[in-house]
Amino acid sequence: MNNWTDGYIADIEYTYGYYGELNPLRVAMPFLNVALMPPTIATACELGFGQGVTVNIHAAASDVRWYGTDFNPGQAAFAQSLAESARSGAQLFDQSFGEFCNRADLPDFDFIALHGIYSWISDENQRSILDFVRRKLKVGGVLYISYNTLPGFAATGPLQHLLSEHGRVMAPPGSPLLGKVDAALEFVEKLMALNPVYGIVNPSFIERLRQVKNQNRQYVAHEYFNHHWRPLRFADLAESLGEAKLTFACSAHYLDHVDALNLTTDQHRFLAELTDPVFRQTVRDFIVNAQFRRDFWVKGARRLPLVDQVEALKQLKIMLTGVRSEVALNVTGALGKRDMTPTVYDPILEILADHAPKTIGEIEQSLSGAGLRLATIYEAIMVLAGKGDLVVVQDEAAQARAKAHTDRLNLRILDRARTSSDLLHMASPVNGGGVAAGRFHQLFLLASRQGRQSADEMAQFAWDTISPQGQRVLREGKTIESQEDNLAELAIQARDFIDHRLSIFQKLQIA
Ligand SMILES: C[S@@+](CC[C@H](N)C(=O)[O-])C[C@H]1O[C@@H](n2cnc3c(N)ncnc32)[C@H](O)[C@@H]1O
Repeated sequence: MNNWTDGYIADIEYTYGYYGELNPLRVAMPFLNVALMPPTIATACELGFGQGVTVNIHAAASDVRWYGTDFNPGQAAFAQSLAESARSGAQLFDQSFGEFCNRADLPDFDFIALHGIYSWISDENQRSILDFVRRKLKVGGVLYISYNTLPGFAATGPLQHLLSEHGRVMAPPGSPLLGKVDAALEFVEKLMALNPVYGIVNPSFIERLRQVKNQNRQYVAHEYFNHHWRPLRFADLAESLGEAKLTFACSAHYLDHVDALNLTTDQHRFLAELTDPVFRQTVRDFIVNAQFRRDFWVKGARRLPLVDQVEALKQLKIMLTGVRSEVALNVTGALGKRDMTPTVYDPILEILADHAPKTIGEIEQSLSGAGLRLATIYEAIMVLAGKGDLVVVQDEAAQARAKAHTDRLNLRILDRARTSSDLLHMASPVNGGGVAAGRFHQLFLLASRQGRQSADEMAQFAWDTISPQGQRVLREGKTIESQEDNLAELAIQARDFIDHRLSIFQKLQIA
């Protein structure tokens, strides 16, 4: 183990994910839903940014001045190179939390974010972060924090222990970490095949093992092979953050806001009788068996009177980013998959179908004949945003300022798509954040920049790019072998891209 790692996995680099919950523009919708004044966010900081995809997209796509650190130098180097490409001014470092949090040259922050960090680090690092939040988060500022949660993660504790102990005891010294992960998983599977009593009385352990086997190995290494690994109870975190003067604001996961998706009527009533907000969340975590929480906390919550709440939420501007005909009218919460009422969703989707940004007030006005109340419209919009079908839009002046930065970052992302499929989001000045864009869509965008506008030309470009690298297209999970069939499949995908997605990408200013 290198001595800078502090027990954290550093032999293999982390994945290249993008996490929209860290977009400061996404704070307003859930805050307004619980009648809290959303902060104005000008300075922000991400602790433990991984490969830095998220922080770079946010720094390029808005006026927010971003800072961040991740002590893995390979990852920090990649993140810094993205910031240089975008010329976004993001200040990204390779310091440990202990070093970074004690820098004297940092501004105070309106928004501090840490995703997938807090339940994987030592007590000392947790203390550094808490002290940083206490000192550096401005009054009115917001903390976004996600973490593995009890009771949902309780069954996984023994699995984590078994996997990491196997790696520590059984793997030959110096063996590569990914090999250790595979060997440990194989071992636990063999153990479970012997029907141990532990597995019989804890079926969720077997289910978790099955999930872990299908997950990305780099992610599994970071999730389960860390020296420090401790799911947290909500009440314990509330106590720690309370010392930094923070109170719980609301979930950052929009679908958590919709009780009908997560609680039965009786459960809802049971919770409503609990007046202590922290205990209510603790009990809710039992009801939904919470495994992972993504929450906003605030230093000095400001309650909005109803008139101001209604006024503010009517001004939020949104845009449909999903293809209208592909927006599925079902959604999954803790209660499982639920159908969405067509009489509510269809009229809203019709208004948004031209993908032009509209305020919620305008939508309400257009629907005045349909008998839909503002509260119903707002909940439907939160569900669609939570499903990833729509985004909140920033003002046009901010979009114009961000455009040069997102263009440069997107060019870098597109260039990487020639050889790799790891960056699957692009930066949009419209939502101040990331937009999903698969590798073939990125290659089609590259082709169109080179004047190849027809589906066949785009397909040929994509094929000429991937085939010398020995790569093939998949259809329904199976590799397509012949050149002819690859080209035919790519042409179908390019046709769909031209007919349905290109105009949305243009409205999002990524094409
Ligand atoms: C599970 S990854 C999450 C990365 C990123 N937030 C994401 O969600 O994609 C945790 C990250 O924290 C970094 N990290 C862990 N301990 C750290 C420390 N003490 N100081 C700085 N970075 C640390 C790791 O290098 C790793 O990139």
